[in-house]
This record gives sequence, structure tokens and C-alpha cells, in this order.
Amino acid sequence: MTTPWWQTCVIYQIYPRSFQDTNDDGIGDLRGIARRLDYLVGLGVDAIWISPIYPSPMVDFGYDIADYCDVDPSFGVLADFDNLLVQAHRRGLKVLLDLVPNHSSDQHPWFAESRASRESQKRDWYIWRDPAPGGGPPNNWISDFGGSAWQWDEATGQYYYHAFLREQPDLNWRHPAVQAAMYDVMRFWFDRGVDGFRIDVLWHMVKAADFPDNPPNPAYRFGMGEMHRLLQRHSTDQPEVHRIAAEMREIADSYGARGQGARVLIGEIYLPVDRLMHYYGGERPEMHLPFNFQLIDTPWQARVLAAVIANYEAVLPPGGWPNWVLGNHDRPRVAARLGQAQARIAAVLLLTLRGTPTLYYGDELGLTDVVIESSDVRDPRELREPGLALGRDPVRTPMPWDDSENAGFSAVRPWLPLHADWSTRNVTRMAEDPQSILALYRRLTALRRDRRALSIGSFVLLNVQDDILVYERRHAAERLVVALNLGERPHRLQLPEWVRDSRLLLSTAEDAALVEDGVLLLGSNEAVVLEAG
Ligand code: GLC
Repeated sequence: MTTPWWQTCVIYQIYPRSFQDTNDDGIGDLRGIARRLDYLVGLGVDAIWISPIYPSPMVDFGYDIADYCDVDPSFGVLADFDNLLVQAHRRGLKVLLDLVPNHSSDQHPWFAESRASRESQKRDWYIWRDPAPGGGPPNNWISDFGGSAWQWDEATGQYYYHAFLREQPDLNWRHPAVQAAMYDVMRFWFDRGVDGFRIDVLWHMVKAADFPDNPPNPAYRFGMGEMHRLLQRHSTDQPEVHRIAAEMREIADSYGARGQGARVLIGEIYLPVDRLMHYYGGERPEMHLPFNFQLIDTPWQARVLAAVIANYEAVLPPGGWPNWVLGNHDRPRVAARLGQAQARIAAVLLLTLRGTPTLYYGDELGLTDVVIESSDVRDPRELREPGLALGRDPVRTPMPWDDSENAGFSAVRPWLPLHADWSTRNVTRMAEDPQSILALYRRLTALRRDRRALSIGSFVLLNVQDDILVYERRHAAERLVVALNLGERPHRLQLPEWVRDSRLLLSTAEDAALVEDGVLLLGSNEAVVLEAG
């Protein structure tokens, strides 16, 4: 049986506002993405996931959707999307859209109708509740962006629920008509030819039917963000979400379940790994890939990483395909977390672990979090709880293409500032430098394509000590060893017998590691891939 593409592919996340502007408004657009497809082919990725492109008041920059079946004018028109899809497919690139089913914009006609009166046909499409017996919000639930998750509606005398901004009312997924409407949205885009969806906040979609208070979080400390005062026990991860996830999967599978034609669903789920596993599905399959964000949060220490990897491998359900994520549009960038030297090691880790890797645009250049002056802040997360470093603008800054004005991103001032060193840290400059992190990413994707062991091979941990992590990837006759030095101190590593006669396939260092008499001399901040025999 042929391996489905979503198991061997490398996924690249595009934040469309910041990728490439073509109409001189300082905001990226679909034509911009189309213009840069050859760059993505050269980078060696196989699929792009584009954050939301639909009509939106942009209060949460596209995650507040006013029409699920069209394109926002700032990104272009539907025909631009169709063209992008054709251009991408012509190059062998898959295209995934971002489905945001948990909530719409308060400007969506569904919500306008729902809020119009208590008798409205669509009243129950959203979550309306009377005040608590003594007055005030129906329960203690807190919005993920801080403050009560309930918004009072004077006109109809009820509260509505919003897990995020009050401009993002939650849809009522217990209502069959809501389910049907959103399934039609999926069909609309599948019919146009999209290859799948990343599903926004999947674990939020169903809430406990009787809306009990959430319990306090004993680990809460000031600075974590107000949402962490409570454990989201009743507002998220309810058993009923799994039937919905399975129905979504059924729709995807009806468009293609195997090989090159498979349509894929990726769930955004921030849960402990044992809970995450349920989103692969039980009797009925659910997500192909429930996003695994552990590399973002795990302390960068060999032993801790090794334990995380081993545990994840161990708890995967039978047939469950692993995946790994280094960064996204909500979390600090990998180069900001680890520094430039270790961002390179992280690249090797991401692209040599077992499982589908997802790469966030700009991480291939080592972009770091950009300091945003308070007058430039755009992210509602930051605006609502300022000063706690929760804002996401720093990781959403424009992609730098060259050293021309505005880094070739736009002819005008971009919607967010560029990073300070954009005149050297840009695609054109780094593509010329064989030692750049961009060149490293290209070598890694090429190697991954070339050696099946890296994509579909088995994974065995070989050695964990101090700053050193060594593992084997093996498929048929291919046997590779990956050795990472997570620190500054060079190491001498005794290699297993079978890898003594090995070839160096890749090193992150300019003067690559040496293997002498079965001992690997791994330099400071160096990672290598060796091939046995
Ligand atoms: C997801 C998105 C995030 C957005 C939120 C609300 O977590 O990744 O960017 O703000 O959902 O839609």
C-alpha cells in the first residue's frame, strides 16, 4: 500500500497577512502567496496551511469570520484562491485551509439573526443564557483572552458565550443545523479542490450541557493570563466533540481517503498528550493529525526531550500517525526561545523525528520575536491583557524577501514592523549563503525526501546524556543515526557497532563532525545525520 502524502509531507504554515503583499496595502494577499510558490517548492515543503482568508472584520485577524465561503477583500477574491490552488497543485503542493468552526464573527449574518430576538429561528445557533439567579453572568467561565466569557445583550436580556473575544460568539455545536451548515462549508472548499483543513480550537467546540462553574486552577500564578485562573474542565474537551470530529472526518474521507488524493484534517488541540490521543478517534477515525505542540513547550534539555518523544511514541494509538510542530502564529518563535545556534538543532530535530513536521513561515530564516512598540500593537490578546508578553504580533511580522525597501514584502509600510536585521536576514541573502539556516532547511527537506527512513522509518532512541540526544531512523536497508548536541560543549560519542562504518549525510556545522575509530566528535551546537554502511 502506498503511504498517504500527509504522512510523508512537510507542512508549511503561512500567515497570509505577512507573507507577500501585491496590492500595496501593507497586508499580504493570495496573489502574493501564488507569486512565492516557487520559493516554497525550493524550500522543499509539500503542503501549505494558510491561516484564515475569509471575509472578516479582522478583530482577531481572520479568526473572526463573517462569511465562511468567500475571501476577504484584503486577501483578494475567490478567483485568486482558485488560481492559487491551481498554481500550487501544478507544482505538486497541497493546500490546507483554516476552518474556524467554534465561533464566528459577531458580524456574521447568522449571529445578526440569532441576536435579533429570542424567537429568532437562529437563536439557538449560538449559546444564549439567562443571568445567574442573583444576576450577573451565567457561570464563572473566563475568555481565553481574559475577562468573563459571557457578554450581556441588552436588547434581548440574555448573555451569549464567547471563548475568545466578545466579537467571536461561540456557535452552538449541539444544534444539528449548525453542524449541517458547517459541514456544508467544508464541502464548499473541498469541492473547490482544497486538500484539507487545519481545524481551529477543536477541543473547545462542545461545552458541558449544564454549564457548571469551572474549578480553580491551583497552579495559577499572576502573569500566566487570566484564563489560567480556572481549569477549563467543563468548557472544553467534552466527550460529544468526538462524534463531530468523526463526522468531519467522514466528509473529508468522502472526497479522498487514500494515497495522493487523501483529504486531511489537522486538529488544533492544546491538551495533555493522553487527552490529545482521543482526537485520533476510537471506533470511528477523527483527525489524521491532532497537532502535537510539545516541542514548543518542552524545556530544551536532552533528557526531557527524550522523555517527551518516548512518551508520545508510546501513547500513540494503533495506526495513529505522529506529528511535530516547532512554532505557529500564537506562540513565541523557536529562534526566540532557543537562540540562533539551537534553532538549527531544532530544525534537524523537527525534520528527523518520526511524524509529519509543521514549519512556521520565517522560522526557516531564524526570524525571532520582534519587539513591538506599544503604539504598533495590533493583537487583541495583547491589547486586552497588556504587558504579560502574551501578545502575538511579535511572531506575525512580515516575511523578508530581499534587501529592497520593506524587504520586498510590500511597496508600502507593512501592517507590522519588520525585524531589525531584515537587510541581511532575508531570503535572497540567505539563499546565497550555504551556511545559513535557510540552506540547512533546504538540505534537511531534500534529505528527508531522499531517505525514506527519515519520513516513514522506525524510531529508536540510542543515547541520551548531558546535552546529547542520539536516535536511529530505519527503513528497509536504510539505517540512519541522528545525533544532536543541545549545548556548547563538544562531545566524543562512542557509536554503536553497526554505525562505525558510516557516512556523514548532513551536519549543521561548517567544519563538520568527524567519525574516527567509531567515535563521533560532535562539535558545539552541532547536529549530524549519519548513514550506516
Ligand atoms: C486559535 C488560533 C488563534 C485564535 C484563536 C481564536 O487558537 O490559532 O490565533 O486567536 O484560535 O480563534
